Formats: sequence, C-alpha cells, structure tokens
Amino acid sequence: MMRLYRSQAAMSPAVLVLMLTVGSQLSLVDGDGRKVQQKPNFLLFMVDDLGIGDVGCFGNTTIRTPNIDRIATNGVKLTQHLAAAAVCTPSRAAFLTGRYPIRSGMAPSGQMRVIPFLASSGGLPANETTFATVLKQAGYDTALIGKWHLGVSCSNRNDFCHHPLNHGFGYFYGLPLGNVRDCGINTGTVMRTKPTEQIISVVIAITVLLLSVAFLKLYGVVYYNWRSYCNFVGLWVGLILLGFFFLRSFRTLNCVLMRNKAVVEQPFHLETLTPRFTEEAVAFLHQKKDSPFLLYVAYSKVHTALATTERFRGKSQHGDYGDNIEEMDWSVGEIMKTLDDLGLTENTLVYLSSDNGGHLEEVSAQGEAHGGWNSIYKGGKAQGGMEGGIRVPTVLQWPGKLPAGSEISEPTSQMDVFTTVVELANQKVPQDRQIDGKNLWPLLTGEETASPHEFLFHYCGTWIHAARYRPRQGNSTWKVHFTTPDWTPGTMGCFDTLVCYCYQGYVTHHDPPLLYDIAHDPTEDNLVNISSDKKYQQIISSVENAVEAHRRSVSPAPNQFAPSKLIFTPWLQHCCNFPYCSCEDDMKGVHL
Ligand SMILES: *[C@@H]1O[C@H](CO)[C@@H](O)[C@H](O)[C@H]1NC(C)=O
Ligand SMILES: *[C@@H]1O[C@H](CO)[C@@H](O)[C@H](O)[C@H]1NC(C)=O
Ligand SMILES: *[C@@H]1O[C@H](CO)[C@@H](O)[C@H](O)[C@H]1NC(C)=O
Ligand SMILES: *[C@@H]1O[C@H](CO)[C@@H](O)[C@H](O)[C@H]1NC(C)=O
Repeated sequence: MMRLYRSQAAMSPAVLVLMLTVGSQLSLVDGDGRKVQQKPNFLLFMVDDLGIGDVGCFGNTTIRTPNIDRIATNGVKLTQHLAAAAVCTPSRAAFLTGRYPIRSGMAPSGQMRVIPFLASSGGLPANETTFATVLKQAGYDTALIGKWHLGVSCSNRNDFCHHPLNHGFGYFYGLPLGNVRDCGINTGTVMRTKPTEQIISVVIAITVLLLSVAFLKLYGVVYYNWRSYCNFVGLWVGLILLGFFFLRSFRTLNCVLMRNKAVVEQPFHLETLTPRFTEEAVAFLHQKKDSPFLLYVAYSKVHTALATTERFRGKSQHGDYGDNIEEMDWSVGEIMKTLDDLGLTENTLVYLSSDNGGHLEEVSAQGEAHGGWNSIYKGGKAQGGMEGGIRVPTVLQWPGKLPAGSEISEPTSQMDVFTTVVELANQKVPQDRQIDGKNLWPLLTGEETASPHEFLFHYCGTWIHAARYRPRQGNSTWKVHFTTPDWTPGTMGCFDTLVCYCYQGYVTHHDPPLLYDIAHDPTEDNLVNISSDKKYQQIISSVENAVEAHRRSVSPAPNQFAPSKLIFTPWLQHCCNFPYCSCEDDMKGVHL
C-alpha cells in the first residue's frame, strides 16, 4: 500500500489520470473487446411471518421500522408482491428456485406443511437449482445467514443433500430448521392444537381403561392371563414415556444453530440470535466487499417464540411482537449502514420481503397477539388462496438504477426474484426445467407498466385454491377463488387447529368460483355477480383454462412431504458434543 502510494506520488498528474482511465476501461472491456459491466451485488432479506400491516411504509403508524421505510424511500415499494405459498418451507423453496413448490415436490399434501424435525429426510432436492447455485458458478461469493428450513440430510447424517452448502451457498450461519414456540423458554408449544389434544385424550382414555381392567382383575371380577396382560401394559407405558421424552426433547433436538455443516449451538439462545446474524452479515460484507457477492439474510424473526435482547424489550407499543419487529428493523439498518460505509450501495440490489403473511392464530397464553397484522387483507399465514396469507410487504432499492420513492401495485411474485437476480448477474436461467419466475427489471425501472404475469396460481399445499388474472389490456386484476378455508366463525383464521388446513373437511369448494376485482376491491368485499355480464363468465373460463394448462405443465416429482420423509429418523439427528447434544457458540468463526 505504502509503496503504491509513493510510486503514484512520483508520477505526474497527467500520467496518473491516463493510468486511471486505462485502468477503468480495462475493467469495462472483456477478452473479446465487448463492453461488460461491473457485476452487481445482491443483498436479499427475508423476514419470517411479517404481515403487510406491520411495516411503517405499508401504513403502520405505531411500529417503528425506519430502516425498512428508508429502503422504500430510496427505491421501490411493491404493494402486490405474492409469496408462492402461505407457509415457510414451500414458500422459501419457490423463492430460491423460481418454481412453484409442486414442481420440486415441496408442496405439502397433509397437515404437516413444513419440515418438522432436523432429523426429517425431506427437503429441497439436490437437483433443484437456486439463484445461489447459478451465481456461485458465475464466480459470486454467496452466503446464507439465518433460517433455512428446507431440510438437511437424505439417507445418512453426513450427506447434507438438502443443506444450504449443497444449494449454492458458500457459507452458512444459522438455523437449519427455524424458530418455533418450543424453541423458547416457557413460550408454549406448537404441539398443543385440537388434533393433538384429541390424540392425548384417546391415550388417556386407553390408559384409564387398562388400569380399570387391572383393578377388576384384583377383585376377581374378570379372569385372564395376568402375565401377558402386564407385558401389554408395560409396553403401553413404555410408549407413553417415549412419546413424552420425545416431546420434552424437541428443543434440544431441533432448535440448533449451525456454522456451515457443524452444529455450534444446541439449543440456540434465542434472545441473541438477531445481533449475531447481524454481526455475521456485517463481517461477510467487510470480507467480500471487493468480489461480487450474494448475501441472503433470512431472519428467524418475527416468528414465535418471541425474544429480543434487553435493548428492545418492552420498548414498542405492541408487546413482544412489536419489540421483535423493531429489533429486526434495527438489524436491517446495521447491515444497510455497512453497505453504505463500504461504498457498495451504488452497485447492490437490495430486496426485503416476508415468507408469508402474519399468523393470526398466534396468540400468547396471556392473550397477546404474537402474530402479524395483515392490514386490510383477508386471512393470514397458511391460507394459500387468501390475500393476507400471501401478499407480503416488499421493498427494493438500487440507487441510480431504480426510481426512488416509486410504488408498484401490479401483481408480482417472490419467484420472480430468481429470474431477476440470475439475469441481472448476466447468467441464464436453467433451460432444462420449467421456471415460473419472470424478470421484474422492466417493471421495476418503469420501462414496463404491466405485470409480466398474466396468471398466477395460489396453492394451498398441493391444491390450487385461487388464481389471479392480469389481462394484458385494461387496469383490472381478477382474483378467482375455487376453494376457501372454513374460518372459526367471526374470525379470519382457524383457531382450533392453529392454522387453516387446505383440504376436504376444512374448506369450502365454490362452483361457480368466486370472482373479485382485486385491483379495485383489494379487501374482496364486493363479490362480482358473474351472471350479470357475459364478460365475467369469460374471465372465469380464461382462468380455468390457464389452471388446466398449468396443471399439465407440472410433471410429478418425489414428494418431500411423504410421511416417511417427515418422520423423525434417529440416524439423521445432528448433535454437538455427543452424547450431551449441548454446546454454545464461541463465535470464533465469525470472520468466515
Ligand atoms: C401495526 O402493527 C401492529 C402489530 O402487528 C398492529 O397491532 C397494529 O394494528 C398495526 N397498526 C396499523 C395502523 O396498521
Ligand atoms: C388505467 O390506469 C392508467 C394509469 O394509472 C390511467 O391513466 C387510465 O385512465 C386507467 N384506465 C382505466 C380504464 O381505468
Ligand atoms: C345477478 O345478476 C343477475 C342477472 O343480472 C340477476 O338476475 C341476479 O339477481 C343477480 N344476483 C344477485 C345476487 O344480485
Ligand atoms: C430431480 O430428480 C427427480 C427424481 O429423479 C425428478 O423427478 C425431477 O424431475 C428432477 N428435477 C429436475 C429439476 O431435474
């Protein structure tokens, strides 16, 4: 450095200018003499379960999110940006691959719609291509800091077939699974829903029956082989104890923090996760500032269990939930500030969104709302066809490239991020498979005014519950509901089951389907009378034809939510410091 400075000082200013000019031209011309541009960087934030009504720039006046709001002021706010699914595992699979989850086998067909255990064998198949895979091959430094929740291993613990490092990320620090109620201390459990309570009642009933029979035997009322009876009861009690032990160990087994392929904290300390993710992201930026990079920061916030550091505790107007949003926003600010300090802002596309809408049924034992607020939109998390479940708060910035302070209300999808990022990096999207995402660049820059999507399909699990139709002409966007969830009366959620299920017994099918003009009636209060005008019937049949064509385009892929892939598979369990399965991160690897 010193030597360079001296030799420059010895040169005449004219020579220096000449050298700088030649130097800058060199960087703009590739081997064939064509002009190439400096590769852009990507900083993508994903928040967990953040509702569209939870953010200042989306109309919230009481939660402080100045850092997210600043991204909107500097860039673009998307007011009709849609997740491809209303729960995190399929939604994130679609975000990373640009494909509807059903194409990769990541669309759940049952009650369990996320990967439940660290030792489950389902996850994002190794032959799927994420934007990180493409960019890494193009010479980018890539990292995921935060939540993955797309599986870890397939058939043996160390194959890491689904792991971020097998999906294009050069570095991983975060949660292979995610944060759930059971990961906190005294924060409740996701196991306590009506169906599990029903199972528990049956177990109790059988136990009482067995004990009463034993009691009657003692008094000689019934006669049977006492010994085989005792064996049977022993087995039964053993099973109950095993189940109990398993439930008690949930936190230890699943709430783990990994650095690359190693478990570094088990169970993780929830309160300090966000500052640690922040520190890791800041360190990554410092280290990779000279190379093109893609940094994906996926917060475990604002999902329950809710916890923050002391600094944010009790500071918001919305209890634990608001505190968590404000800490998450603080983290966004720290990372954005680093980008500025390192002079990277002008060459970085920043994107921030949420994997699905706010979780309406998430209410604490004290009755406090621990899930997000979806503003004027109906429904919430887990409701694949309802706006509240899939319309997510989204902002982007790239000063000098994207118009500052603009707002786009055209329908766009999180799957579009794949195509947009890949094409901005001057790479090709894979040609050997169906990609559903479209390049949003022309819409974002204002070169185009209409959505690149004519149709979007809204899946709930493996079922298409609704579809959106943006005709090329005119200003309307139509929403068609084929199936809607059966809400708890008087609410917009399913409070008995903690989330709304997607299938028969929990939903209502509509024939003819329900039609709304979502562009002019975003709250879906004015059902269109489809028999009042022929054009409405045409709209419905256009959508039905598009749904059919889409279905034909889906080729079957191995189902990652098959029961055999969801169940706890003991030999896939990762554990630090075996057999204790207990350790704390010393942060020694912070500098990558
Ligand atoms: C702001 O967000 C909080 C927390 O989700 C919610 O309770 C409140 O209603 C929101 N306020 C507005 C004006 O949307
Ligand atoms: C459609 O939107 C454009 C731009 O917002 C506006 O100028 C035009 O009048 C609208 N047309 C109709 C039919 O509403
Ligand atoms: C729908 O439109 C038809 C034809 O105009 C009319 O006969 C019918 O009463 C309308 N239905 C409702 C519920 O308004
Ligand atoms: C990945 O492999 C599965 C099973 O062999 C296959 O069904 C699927 O089409 C493959 N996906 C891609 C994108 O090649």
